[in-house]
Order: sequence, then structure tokens, then C-alpha cells
Amino acid sequence: MKNFIGAEKIIDKKREYIMPCLGHFYAKPPQFVRGDMQYLFDATGKKYLDCYAGVSVINCGHCNPYITSRMIEQIKMLQHVCNIYLTENFVNLAERLAAVAPGDLQKSFFCSTGTEANEGSLLLASIYTHSSEFIALQSGLHGRTKLTMSLTGIGMWRTDPNPVGGINFAPNPYCYRCPLGKNPATCDLACADKVETIIQTATSGRPAALIAEPIQGNAGIVVPPKGYFKRVKDILAKYGALLIVDEVQTGFARSGKMFAIENFDVTPDIMSVAKALGNGQPISAFIATKKIADTYTRPGASTLGGNPVSSTAGLAVLDYIAEHDLMGNARARGEQLMNGLRSLQAKFPIIGDVRGLGLMVGAEFVHADKSPAFRELDALLEELKNRGFIVGKNGVGRNVLAFQPPLVITDQDVDDVLNAIEIILEREHYE
Ligand SMILES: Cc1ncc(COP(=O)(O)O)c(C=O)c1O
Repeated sequence: MKNFIGAEKIIDKKREYIMPCLGHFYAKPPQFVRGDMQYLFDATGKKYLDCYAGVSVINCGHCNPYITSRMIEQIKMLQHVCNIYLTENFVNLAERLAAVAPGDLQKSFFCSTGTEANEGSLLLASIYTHSSEFIALQSGLHGRTKLTMSLTGIGMWRTDPNPVGGINFAPNPYCYRCPLGKNPATCDLACADKVETIIQTATSGRPAALIAEPIQGNAGIVVPPKGYFKRVKDILAKYGALLIVDEVQTGFARSGKMFAIENFDVTPDIMSVAKALGNGQPISAFIATKKIADTYTRPGASTLGGNPVSSTAGLAVLDYIAEHDLMGNARARGEQLMNGLRSLQAKFPIIGDVRGLGLMVGAEFVHADKSPAFRELDALLEELKNRGFIVGKNGVGRNVLAFQPPLVITDQDVDDVLNAIEIILEREHYE
């Protein structure tokens, strides 16, 4: 067996050689050395059930043998020439994406990260509309470049001291803590209507686009009410503005549909995808209708975008999702998980809210006064890890237990993690 340097040495080297902006989870983190579908193994050989999938990346499971073997075949044949030369995998993948993307989204541009895909979506919207004004949602997250970070509405991730202008933020559809102080039963989607007020009062009247995640991930798995995106899209259309949907975290069967925006019966004008498209291989894309895409005529190329290996991974992912009905499993296991968490919520008031779609599920931890119970959540996560369960955390208050597991998890896996949470909450007397 290979000798691993171990968690402590990794932390020492991080401190010495990695920029300090990069944190890590856990007071006592393991060193992960191996993955096998929904399971991870650390340097001591300990097994974990992965309920976070590298933040919504490993939808088809770690080191999925089918995807790995297709990639190995390609790695042995040809790894890279740059897409200024002709290879066939990226056009085949673009054709497949057009077939599964919502509505008439048809043409793709391939790049490598979610940030880059969003940056490209925004560029395309600017080219098409001749405007560089944008609207984003509070508590959304779109990336680390100048523009995508400026469009990110979470203080913690807005580390640029000089964000760009021309951006306005609309209230996010976060019904558990409505930013407008409304009651979801009677609000009549007031947060969606605010988009129109913003266009009329804070922009030139013709912004390029609104960018939004269909389910806000980093915000703490915030699921908008059913009619939200339809109302927003109608408002945008009135002003000639586009709807860009950031499916970086939500795409590829995660929500029980291929793309999460399909749960809202709305077709975006431009869509960014990344993460799960490569199942761990770096690949991303922005996809637009033919009419919009065809305005991007001046030169544009990405050295590694859609290279033969990452495009092969994308093709294998789409095959695997279809052949193993991962959308069906996301719906069934997601329902089981939500029901289990709701039962725990009835028993432990520290769970203030349970929400999600498919296998993108959050449980918000709160004190009696609804303030974020982030310390209690951290303690729970540490203990879950000790017991062999890797569960995520997000939310503006860092108080949302986040489940975004590989979509291959079984009902036994879901029962196991729910049981572990119950045992810990009972033992620690969480109130
Ligand atoms: C919704 C969303 N958009 C964009 C990004 C940025 O993606 P990347 O880290 O691949 O650049 C992330 C990253 O977590 C994300 O969650």
C-alpha cells in the first residue's frame, strides 16, 4: 500500500505553499485517498458514505468504472490538440447537450470551470443585447473572476476589494427568511416583482440579463416558489433582457430532472453548466439558443475547453445518467431523505427548515430565536465524519446541513445517514 503523508503534513504544506484563502472542513480532517461510487476511503483505510459528492460534482459516483474506462481509452488515443484543430468528441457532446437541454438551447461553447462558463454566458448576453448591466440575486454565487465575483451576493465570497459596477441585486426567493419580510402564503411573489422595480429605477431600462441559480446552493439550498422564474422571465422579456441560468451545481439529474430550471417550466436564454458534466473531469459550457449564440462571431477559443478526454467524460456521464435512471433515483432517494429529515425536525427543534428538490436537500439549523446554529452544526458534521459520513455545509449563516450525494446512493445509505444524525442529535441533547 502506498505511503500517504497524512492530514497533518498536508495542513503544514498548505500553510507553507498554498494561498491562505483556501480553507478546509473539519477540526480533524481525514486525508482522502480513494473513491468507489458513493464511498470514500481515507489514508487509514476508513470508509465513508459521501453525501456531498465534491460539491455536486460526482453525480455518477467516484471513479465510476464505466466512465473511467471510457476516459482511459481516450487518454491512450489522444489527450489534447486544442479545439482550433478538428476532433470529434466536443461536437458530439454539444449535439447531445442540445438534445437534453431545455427548450431550444442548441449551441455550446466549452471551457473548464463553472466560473468560466458563467463569465462566457455574461459575455454572450452583452454581445447579444449591447448592454453590460446585470441583475443577480442576493446570496447567489457565480464564481471567482472579476465579473462573476461581483455578481456573487454572499459577503463571504466577495473578496475583491473593487467589484465592478453596473450590477444590481434582487431579493432572493428565500421563503424561510423572506428578505422582504413577507409571508409566502400571501406574498404573490413580491420578490419576483422587485426585478421590475430594479430595472425601472436602478438600470438604464435595458439590462443585458439576470443571472440566477435555479436552486441557490451556497445560499443554503434555497428553492424558489413554483411560479418565481416564470414571473421573472416575463418581466425580463418586457425589457429585452435575457435570463441566464447557472446550473453549475444543479445540473445533470441532481434535482430529479436533467436541469433544475425544468422544475419551474421555464426555458432560459443562456445556461451555464459545469461540475457534474465531467464527474470530476474539468469541463464546463455555456449553451444558448441559435439566435443568441450566432451573435458570438468574433474569435473565441479556450485551450483546454472540451478537450478529447473531458468531452469523453461528458458523453459517458450523459450515457450513464440515462442508462441508470439517475433522475428517478434522485427523486426517490430525495423524497426518502426529505421525509426522514422532516421526522427529525419534528423531534429536534434545532432543525428549523427542511427543503430541496431531488438529491439537493438542506436542513437549516437554528436556535429558538431562529438565529443560525452554526457551531452546533459544525459539531454534528465532525461527529458524522467520525462515524463515516461526509455531509456538506452551506448557507449565508453557515448553518445549513447540505446533502448533494452521488445520485447512485441506495435507500440503505439514506437510512444509515439519517440514523447517524438521529443518534448524534439525541446523544448531544440538541434542542
Ligand atoms: C452555482 C455556482 N456557480 C459557479 C460556481 C463556480 O464554479 P467553479 O468553482 O467550477 O469555477 C460554483 C462553485 O461552487 C457554483 O456553485
